[in-house]
Parts: sequence; C-alpha cells; structure tokens
Amino acid sequence: MTFIMDPLLYPSIIKHGRQLDFHEFAAKVAPVTFGYPVVVPALQDQIYRTFKLLQGDNLAALTESMMGNLMLVLRQDHLGERGAWRRAALYDFCNAVMFEATFLTMYGRPPARRHGDMAALRDDFVRFDNMFPLLIAGVPVRLLGRTKAVRDKLIGYFLPHRMSCWSGTSEFIRTRAELFEQHGALRDVDKAAHHFAILWASVGNTVPASFWAVYHLASHRGALQRVRQEVLAVLGLHADQFNGDVDLVLDRGQLEKLVYLESAINESLRLSSASMNIRVAQEDFSLSLGAERSVGIRKGDFIALYPQSMHMDPDIYDQPQSFRADRYVQDGRLKTDFYKAGQKLKHYLMPFGSGSTMCPGRYFAMNEIKQFVCLLLLYFDLQLEEDQSRATLDQSRAGLGIMLPAADVRFRYKAI
Ligand code: HEM
Repeated sequence: MTFIMDPLLYPSIIKHGRQLDFHEFAAKVAPVTFGYPVVVPALQDQIYRTFKLLQGDNLAALTESMMGNLMLVLRQDHLGERGAWRRAALYDFCNAVMFEATFLTMYGRPPARRHGDMAALRDDFVRFDNMFPLLIAGVPVRLLGRTKAVRDKLIGYFLPHRMSCWSGTSEFIRTRAELFEQHGALRDVDKAAHHFAILWASVGNTVPASFWAVYHLASHRGALQRVRQEVLAVLGLHADQFNGDVDLVLDRGQLEKLVYLESAINESLRLSSASMNIRVAQEDFSLSLGAERSVGIRKGDFIALYPQSMHMDPDIYDQPQSFRADRYVQDGRLKTDFYKAGQKLKHYLMPFGSGSTMCPGRYFAMNEIKQFVCLLLLYFDLQLEEDQSRATLDQSRAGLGIMLPAADVRFRYKAI
C-alpha cells in the first residue's frame, strides 16, 4: 500500500476517481463485516443512488425529524427534574441520546413512540462496534467469540415484518426497503443486514463526534459561552428570555448560521478523526504528482491517504494538539484558506473522506451534532468533574473514522 503523505498532492489522487476507486474495496469488505451477500452491480448502482436522499430537499425533513426526536429523548429521560445536579459518564450520555434520536429519525418509531428495547440494542451495537476494526481487517467473524450471535441479533431487529410496524421512517430508509423488495434474490435477513449496515454508518462516527464536540466545549468554558450566545442570537433571544418548557426548533437555515459552533465541531473532528481513504487502481496508468513528477501505478495497487497526519501538521495548523474553537472562523464566516509551504490547500479537513466517495451523510451529521450541542447548552448547565485526567484517544480504530475516548469522562448536569 502506498501512502501519499503530502496534502498538496491529495488533489492529484482525488481527481483520478475513475482509475483510483474506493468502491471495489468497500464492496469486498462491507458484506463480510455486516453479514449480507456480495451485492450484484445493478443493485449496487441503485443503492448508491439512494445516498442522495440524505441530502438536498430531504435534508430539511431529516433535520426537522431529528430535532423532534432529540427533544423527545431529552425531555423524557433528562429534563424531568429542574435544578438538581445529576452525575453521569459523558460518552454514555451522548451515546444514549444520539443513538436513539438518530435511530428514530432514520427508521421511524413503533406505535408506543419509543422502541422499548433501545438500551439492549445499543449495548449489542457497542459489542459489535468493539469488534469492528477486526472485522474490517478481515478476521473471520467465527473467530470472534459471540460477535456473530450479537450481529445476528442486531440484524434481526430490522427484519421486514418488524420494520413494517414503524411509522415516520425516513425517505432514505423507505426507498431502500422498497428497492430490496424488488430484488427477489435477497432473503429477509439480507435486507435486514443492509439496514443494519446503515445503522452503523449513521451512528458509528456520529456518536463519538458528538462526544468530542461536547467534551471540548465543556473543557473550554469561554468557547462554550460563546456558542451559547451564538445560538441565542440566531434564535433572536436574550439569555433570560429562553424558556426551558418550550420545545426548541432550529431549522436547517438557522443551523447554517451557527458558524462559531460549526468551527468548534470542525476543530473537534480535526482532533479525533483518523479515517483512511483507500483507493484501488483499476488499470495501469501514470499518476502525475504536480508539474514535474509522475509515478507508474499498476492495476490492483492500493493507494492510501491518511488525513490525520495533515490534521496534525504544525505547518498547517499552529499548535495542532490544542483545541481552538475559532480555528475555522474568519471575519464571521467559515475559514477555508489553509496553507502548506506557502501554497493554499484544496483539502485541509477530511473527516468525511474525499472525492466522489465522500460521506453522503455529512450534512446530516453536521446538523444533528449542532442540534445536540445546542440543546445541551441551552437546556442544561453541564460541568466536567474536576478530579480526572484529560480524555485521550483510543487508537484501536485508527484508520476507520472518529476515534472513541480511551476512557469515559465523568460530568454533572442539571436542567435549567
Ligand atoms: C461525524 C459523522 C460521520 C463521519 C465522520 C463519517 C465519515 C465517513 C467516511 C470517512 C466515509 C468513507 C468515505 C470515503 O472513504 O471516501 C463514510 C461513508 C459513508 N457514510 Fe458517513 N460519516 C458520518 C456520518 C454519517 C451519517 C450520519 C450517515 C447517514 C445517515 C452516513 C452515511 C454514510 C454512508 C452511507 C457511507 C458509504 C458511502 C459509499 O459507500 O460511497 N455517515 N462516512
């Protein structure tokens, strides 16, 4: 595998989308990881087309639904008692709220409004997720203890007869379910495994990303206050006008105006993301690396970009280990000019991958993280417990996305 380490060369790789393809790699790895049969090309093309249902007009509907679901979970589980401090572990807290609200937004709700077995589902998901790096690395599932049984249980949750009882399902999942029905070769359990794969895609990175955003803001009180003021300003409210009894609505347009918050989230993504972009050469060709250099690439060669090295490059980011909430703000707008060796970088922040295979859920992910942070900052007072060391990254997922904290962080919160 060849690693391209100079970020000024990234555009040369990314623009060769046809010759340097990600999908071949994903098409081999995803079925064995999530337990569905190899996908025939006709279905694969249709599946890719459904990704656009996470964007454009559908993004507004997804965002609105997410807001309602976040409010529902927070109100029923955490906003009951005003003024009393509650103690909890921050990752567990973020996981419980974001997992359930995202699940309800994507897949819909049962007649009782909330899925009764959400805590068990989440625990099984965490068990599966812990084995994810090994599955992706190609370790057979039968060698991983109870992982296959846990995965079967998770898949079983999405069997068509169960999903047909849920309402408020997103257009994205509904369309995929209809698509799978048209493919007679897929058994019910295969359709369910595809839905399970999307559960992983939609929460596997978003939950740790939410944790890091909240953690860094809670560790930097000045930044936290500034985000709070920005949200209130977008809502047109003074601090004393906010009424915790009323459900907050922040639509897509308002979320876009939260530039300082977006910068803080970008900064926490920069510090926690370690996804590797892998491309496989589809043919022999000469890869030009700038005006004077080119290298011969053979069909089947693997090329990798590892943006974490760019995210931590002191030539690009001053004091790269530090969290600076306003790193991506300039003159009240999102800053997009970052330089290396005096040259402007086309790609300077890549938690969502690159080129044509960039994460299709990235706009939704950013919106839902923003919504979650806004709700926490407006409805709660939250503080990290003092007597503990700073959170560090668990490196076991390096290469695969947003890293989890090596240990959870204790905090206290109260509804205000
Ligand atoms: C902070 C949150 C997220 C991060 C950091 C993230 C990151 C990524 C990355 C790195 C890829 C691979 C892209 C490549 O290698 O070029 C990817 C793919 C994907 N993501 Fe996300 N993602 C996030 C949230 C989401 C959400 C919320 C959804 C759906 C609701 C989603 C759906 C997908 C799908 C379906 C793919 C596969 C795309 C393909 O096969 O072409 N992601 N994501």
